Amino acid sequence: MPTDPQSPYLPFGDNTRTPWYGKDILSVKQFNRADLEYIFGVAHEMRGMVERVGTFDLLKGKILANLFYEPSTRTSSSFTAAMERLGGSVIPINEVKYSSVSKGESLPDTIRTLECYADVIVLRHPEVGSAAIAAKAAQKPVLNAGDGVGEHPTQALLDNFTIFEELGAGQIDGMTVTMLGDLKYGRTVHSLARLLTLFDVKINYVSPDILRMPQEVKDEIAVKNIPQAEYNTLEKVLPETDVLYVTRVQKERFEDPAEYEKVKGAFVIDPEIMKTAKNEMIVMHPLPRVGEISPDFDDDPRAAYFRQMEYGLYVRMALLAMVLGKA
Ligand code: NCD
Repeated sequence: MPTDPQSPYLPFGDNTRTPWYGKDILSVKQFNRADLEYIFGVAHEMRGMVERVGTFDLLKGKILANLFYEPSTRTSSSFTAAMERLGGSVIPINEVKYSSVSKGESLPDTIRTLECYADVIVLRHPEVGSAAIAAKAAQKPVLNAGDGVGEHPTQALLDNFTIFEELGAGQIDGMTVTMLGDLKYGRTVHSLARLLTLFDVKINYVSPDILRMPQEVKDEIAVKNIPQAEYNTLEKVLPETDVLYVTRVQKERFEDPAEYEKVKGAFVIDPEIMKTAKNEMIVMHPLPRVGEISPDFDDDPRAAYFRQMEYGLYVRMALLAMVLGKA
């Protein structure tokens, strides 16, 4: 249990008047800068608690339904770990083929079923807008863990937290963030680019022509007066980059496999190319990687992608505690 009287946790009893109690987390568009400071403050404390005591009883008796209609390793297991480290428990539904979904049950019906048994629902689904549909059907909070090529807000939060923790809180203003790879289908970059508009950053997009950032996202960013520029090669922008955010080419989203073959190996980060980058910068990746970062680079201190996964645990602990009225 936290002993610090300033702690944002509310360990004893329910406090349904906390601002985040019962809220859905569907899109990064719902956050402002003060929200991020709050979430990251709680996440930072979660980190301290995990390091000191490992598991504690903040969400004892609470149940999470972890509903995944698409493959996942990190998002699914980090939500499970987050809930269990807070003393709660999890109903895992990863193989929807073994659930009533395979009998043709609609998403709203599946959600209404799960909320009879659980206090919070995490959903990953292949269709854009599915998390919003689920949230409409549910009384309990729904957390979007990726809706097709749409958004992945909890990933963007953990990505932002990673930048804060790695490069120093408050230092995000003035940074150059370069997004590399599949910017068309990669939902993590759609969310991260939107979230970064809360800061004074410059965003570079580096991708093959057919995998450019969608116009809709670029338009939203332009409205916020964030400078953005597109490139086909990395060489020009790497030396100025503070955060290089690498993504996988999303094979499963291509209609034509031949198109995937043309672009799959377009960019590879390795120690040689990283010689031209700053010493004080980080390379991030939501993972899984499939060849776009050479394992030869993994031991470089700038390789932040494994640490990034760990930050995800703390951010997801914070979000679960918040929407359940305990932070
Ligand atoms: C990402 C996803 O599922 O969007 N993975 C993740 O959640 N860490 C990225 C990807 O699949 O390439």
